[in-house]
Amino acid sequence: MSAVRNTEKYRPRFHFTPPANWMNDPNGLVYFNGEYHLFYQHYPHGTKWGPMHWGHAVSRDLMTWEHLPVALAPDEKGMIFSGSAVVDWHDTTGFFGGQPGLVAIFTHHEDQQGAAPRQKQSQSLAYSRDSGRTWVKFEGNPVLGSDEFADFRDPKVFWHPDTRMWVMILACGRTVRLYRSPNLKEWSFCSEFGHGIGSHDGVWECPDLFELPVDGDRGKRTWVMLVSIANEPGIPEGSRTQYFTGQFDGNTFVPDEASRQVRWIDYGRDNYAGVSWSDIPEEDGRRIYVGWMNNWKYADATPTESWRGAMTIPRELALETRNREVALIQRPVKEWEAQRALLFEAEGKSVGELNAQFKEHPLETYEIEAEFELAEGIEALGFKLRTSASEETVVGCSVKDQAVFVDRTRSGAVDFHELFPGRHQASLQPDLKRLHLRIIVDQASVEVFANDGQIAITDLIYPSPDSLGLSLFCEGEGGLSYRVKMYKPI
Ligand code: FRU
Repeated sequence: MSAVRNTEKYRPRFHFTPPANWMNDPNGLVYFNGEYHLFYQHYPHGTKWGPMHWGHAVSRDLMTWEHLPVALAPDEKGMIFSGSAVVDWHDTTGFFGGQPGLVAIFTHHEDQQGAAPRQKQSQSLAYSRDSGRTWVKFEGNPVLGSDEFADFRDPKVFWHPDTRMWVMILACGRTVRLYRSPNLKEWSFCSEFGHGIGSHDGVWECPDLFELPVDGDRGKRTWVMLVSIANEPGIPEGSRTQYFTGQFDGNTFVPDEASRQVRWIDYGRDNYAGVSWSDIPEEDGRRIYVGWMNNWKYADATPTESWRGAMTIPRELALETRNREVALIQRPVKEWEAQRALLFEAEGKSVGELNAQFKEHPLETYEIEAEFELAEGIEALGFKLRTSASEETVVGCSVKDQAVFVDRTRSGAVDFHELFPGRHQASLQPDLKRLHLRIIVDQASVEVFANDGQIAITDLIYPSPDSLGLSLFCEGEGGLSYRVKMYKPI
C-alpha cells in the first residue's frame, strides 16, 4: 500500500498497515485540501496494545498512503483514545484566525491509581493549522467529562446544518449519548439512545451517525447509526459492529421498525470499530468507511512480526431497498479498480476447464468477481483459495442452508487462538436465483461482498506463501451456469 513493496510475511499488498508496531481503530477520518487523512490507534513502541497515540497517514486516492509522524501522543491528561476530526470551515473554534482548519476530538483516557483505582475518560480537542502536519492540544482540555460513566469515549463529531450546531455521538456504557455545541468547546446533552434496542453483548464503542439517500434518491434520506460492541469472554464472535436506521433531528435519534432486529455490518470476524470520513466534498457525495480488520478476541496474538493490525479496504456505504427492506450496502471504493487489471474472464466453460485456467495464474493477491445461477439441483458452490495439500480457505454458498460463508478452519496458521479457526456465514434471502460475489484476497485477508454489497464477510487468514491454489467447486446435480472475472493487482 505504500510506495515500497514489502516482502515481509503476511504484510498486505493493498491494505493499510502501520509502518511498524501496533494499530487498532481508525481515528480522525477527514478529507481536507485534496487529502484523505487516516489517523489510527497506535502504540509506536511495541506490537501489542499499549499507551495509545494517534498514528497518521494521508492519501489522495484511498489506496496509496504516505506515512506521517505520530500526530498525538499521551500527555498528563492520559492516553489518546479513539475519536474523530472535522474541518472547522467557519472557524467556530477561533483556532484559525478566520480560516478553515482541522480539529481532532478524541478521548483522554487516564488510569487513576490510589485506594480505589479507576479509569477516567473525557473528551478533548487538538487543532492543526498546517493540514494535519502538526497538532496543538487545546489548553482548555477536557471539553466534556463525566463523573458517572467509566466508559465514556470515542466521540464522532459532525456539523448538523439544519440546527447549525456541531453534534457529538459518544459511547457511554452500553448506550450512546448525543451532545451539541456551537464551537466544539462547550457541549450540552441532547439525548441517549440504546436502552432496550440492539445488541448489548458488550460495552458500546466507536459510534458514527450520518445521513444517506435511499436508492440514490436525494429527496429520500435516512440516518444510519453505527455502534461497535466490545469483546466479552462468553461471546464467541468477539468484537463486532451493528447498525441502526432511523431519523435524527439534531437532538434525538428515532429508530425505524427495521432496527428492532439486530443487524450487523459484517458477518466475518474481522471488521471492527469502523467509522466514516468527514467532509467529503458535496460534489463527490460518498460516505466512505474503513474498519480495523481484526478482533479483540485474538488481536494481540495474530502471527505477524514487526507490525500488527490492518484496515479493511475502504468501502462506500449506501442504503438500498433489498427484499422490501432498506439495507446498508457496502462496496469497495471505486479507486480500488485502478489498482487491479483484468486477467481473464470465463463463461460457459466446464468447472475443470476454468480450474485449469486458474492453475496458470498462481497468485497471492487478487480479486474474483463471479455470478452464478442457483439452478435446481445445486447444493453448494464457491471457491477454494490460497490452497495447498494442507491449507484452504473456502468462500462459498450453501444453497440448502441459504447462506454465504467463509470457512477458514484450514486457512493456514490458525492455532494462535482457539476461536480463530471456523466458518462464518450470513443468510441469503430465500428463493435467490442468482448470486453475485466479489472476493478480494490479500496476503492475510479475504473480504467477500455478496449480492452486490448486501452482505460483507471480512476474515483474516494466514496462509503459507506457497499456498497458491485456486479452484471453483460445485456440489449437487446439473450443470453450473456462471461468469467469472479474475483480476490481479497492478
Ligand atoms: C475500540 C476501543 C475504543 C477505545 C480504543 C482504545 O477498539 O476499545 O473504545 O477508544 O479502542 O485503543
